[in-house]
Amino acid sequence: MTTDGLIAPHGGELVINLVGETEQQELQALAERLPRIVIGPRQLAHLEQLANGAYSPLHGFLNQTDYLSVVDTMHLSNGLPWSIPITLAVTHEQAAAFTEGERIALVDTEGELHAVLTLEEKYTYDKHHEARQVYRTEDEAHPGVAVVYQQGDILLGGPVQVVRLQPQTFENYRYTPTQSRQLFNERGWKRVVGFQTRNPVHRAHEYIQKCALETVDGLFLHPLIGATKSDDIPADVRMRCYEVLLENYYPADRAILGVLPAAMHYAGPREAIFHALMRKNYGCSHFIVGRDHAGVGSYYGTYDAQNIFAEFDAAALGIVPMFFDNTFYCRVCESMASTKTCPHSNEDHVSLSGTKVRQLLRDGIVPPSEFSRPEVAKILIAAMQEQVAP
Ligand code: ADX
Repeated sequence: MTTDGLIAPHGGELVINLVGETEQQELQALAERLPRIVIGPRQLAHLEQLANGAYSPLHGFLNQTDYLSVVDTMHLSNGLPWSIPITLAVTHEQAAAFTEGERIALVDTEGELHAVLTLEEKYTYDKHHEARQVYRTEDEAHPGVAVVYQQGDILLGGPVQVVRLQPQTFENYRYTPTQSRQLFNERGWKRVVGFQTRNPVHRAHEYIQKCALETVDGLFLHPLIGATKSDDIPADVRMRCYEVLLENYYPADRAILGVLPAAMHYAGPREAIFHALMRKNYGCSHFIVGRDHAGVGSYYGTYDAQNIFAEFDAAALGIVPMFFDNTFYCRVCESMASTKTCPHSNEDHVSLSGTKVRQLLRDGIVPPSEFSRPEVAKILIAAMQEQVAP
């Protein structure tokens, strides 16, 4: 606990790796003389999370000891839970030009400086081992595994000093962990439940969010807006759905909408832990994990992302998971329900597959209101039709 009654950040305090203005100018000047690496959207997203404290207690990209510890034990070498390796991969040729101990400028494709890395270690790693351990599959068709296979063969580890953030979309919702904590404080919230999502909000989401909210002070709706699979619905559309829903169906003093500027890994269970730890840093004491959290295809069991929490010391995690079974509208119950609370059969349930819903929306058909709020469906249909328009 912190003095304000909110949960303490992971490791005790927020580790902010963004430098102040003076240092920014010094690093900008220094960077002119430094070797450089051009980084892409995933690394830029990592840098923002390192900058704002969402990755506390990390100071930068993992060194080998921490990398192996995370991959093999889901903990950092200091014993703190951490389930996804945060790495910077380069090719053999790139790595050969760098000497351990030197500083490297991390620039975007326009050549703009984003951070300075102090290179502590460069090391080789086993991509297939990482895939097996982190993603539970070596299948290159898995979108998270594909990223690992496509990246360079050498990892660079060391602390970063972030100078500039990636382009700031959704500025009205882009709270840093410091800011979200302040918002929770202003509202007098102590127990806050975080909700991760990468999909358009539907009634099952709303149901589990509100069930959770019944027992805590506030709800932090925190859609992920970084890189997702190409067939996932774009973040701006998803955000419009949340806006209309909040306006009409959520108490303004009990729910806050923010964005998580991170990319999806689709690592299912491991990512549920990672998602929870980030939300702990944002000040959430609780975190919702429903069915197939952060899953893709059929790589994970429906409740693997819940079961994995039992592998951790609850006190070390700190944030409390709130588990929800598969949720749907039941015509007999005449309400939203879940496999845990509803005794009726599948035929009585309104549940639609993602593929079926996309098909309906593409055809301009509003899905049943038991599945999706009509206001939300309208936004999705308009977005789909814009997409297919030449
Ligand atoms: S995720 O990749 O971010 O997990 P999604 O946005 O679909 O995908 O899910 C957000 C959260 O809601 C996750 O915790 C997920 O497990 C949960 N969830 C989604 N749909 C349901 C459902 N029908 N029943 C129970 N939980 C669900």
